[in-house]
Amino acid sequence: MYLLELPLDSGSASLNHYGYQVEIISTMDGLNTLTKRRESWFGEVAAKRFSQGDLCFALKKNGEIISCLFATLKPVVVPIRPYLEYNLPLDKETVCLIDAFTVPEFRGAHAYSAVFNAFYNYFKGKKFKRIFVFIKPDNIISLKVHQKLGFHRIIMDIKSIRVFGMNKHFIKWTNKAAEEIL
Ligand SMILES: CC(C)(COP(=O)(O)OP(=O)(O)OC[C@H]1O[C@@H](n2cnc3c(N)ncnc32)[C@H](O)[C@@H]1OP(=O)(O)O)[C@@H](O)C(=O)NCCC(=O)NCCS
Repeated sequence: MYLLELPLDSGSASLNHYGYQVEIISTMDGLNTLTKRRESWFGEVAAKRFSQGDLCFALKKNGEIISCLFATLKPVVVPIRPYLEYNLPLDKETVCLIDAFTVPEFRGAHAYSAVFNAFYNYFKGKKFKRIFVFIKPDNIISLKVHQKLGFHRIIMDIKSIRVFGMNKHFIKWTNKAAEEIL
């Protein structure tokens, strides 16, 4: 998994709004038809996210969501290697972007840019300092999209050792400033 970061103090002048209206959703009712457009796991996962206070930023067209992302302040599950995951706690100045999605027929039309812009300004206004997003190394499109939005890559090396039957994790961050994403 690649970890990408975007500082929230870098100004948002380069992020255009494209004239779309973005809503902030906090219950399953607000997701309406989106669950039908998503994978079978989506409804259950979205309900769990809302129950822990996560927000969904969504762009609607004719009442239906065409693009959205989730924002969480809770620990994020990071796969370390097959069958081993780590619950990465976020510090109070970090918000994590999860599950960015645009319905296929609207991709490339700047729908996600509009959603991202609303999300960026919301958390910037609340004095958060950075956004994290985890992206699989083979998701080249998402890596390119987030690179265009200004993200850079952070190397997060998690070492896991087993002590008295418990997994203990050590994280080493290598913030090579503005590391190339691809
Ligand atoms: C990633 C995703 C949400 C992007 O949504 P989108 O609405 O198509 O994105 P936008 O149209 O707002 O594009 C944002 C920027 O990325 C660029 N971009 C979009 N798709 C691209 C592609 N396939 N290749 C290269 N650049 C691309 C756009 O040109 C735009 O840059 P610009 O402002 O300089 O023109 C969408 O591709 C998607 O739903 N993918 C499947 C789910 C997924 O992988 N989610 C990410 C999980 S980490």
